[in-house]
Amino acid sequence: MAEQTLIIVKPDAVKRNLVEQILSRFEKKGFTISKKKTLNFTKEMAKEFYSAHSAKPFFDELVSFITSGEVVVAIIERDDAVSLTREIIGNTNPKEASSGTIRGDFGISITENSIHASDSSESFDKEVNVVF
Ligand code: CMP
Repeated sequence: MAEQTLIIVKPDAVKRNLVEQILSRFEKKGFTISKKKTLNFTKEMAKEFYSAHSAKPFFDELVSFITSGEVVVAIIERDDAVSLTREIIGNTNPKEASSGTIRGDFGISITENSIHASDSSESFDKEVNVVF
């Protein structure tokens, strides 16, 4: 049965005109893009979106980066969407991400890592409410 997940093409990738290339990787893998929009995160949205990381030393940098420019958020769906999307995006740190994954191919650093994806259905439910 089709499952939904949320992806965010982050400011570093939007600035480098990588949105279409990134979204087409999911379409080629059989995902349907059911909702998509461009937006700028406010600080309040960013803090809520990343609240699970609020005690981490990198939290301020994370909020500052995600609010630094336009992002493209999309709800994508197919069977096993959450786990397959995590495979397609690759390791959080682009230096450790395999070639052929989005972060392996496009990510610049652990902060400027080009894409976010929900890590569970529970995260998806929360994240969707912040951005849509
Ligand atoms: P994302 O998938 O958007 O979810 C949380 C983000 O925190 C993650 O991508 C990284 O960009 C960032 N992050 C995770 N670990 C670190 C770290 N050790 N240092 C800096 N940023 C990090």
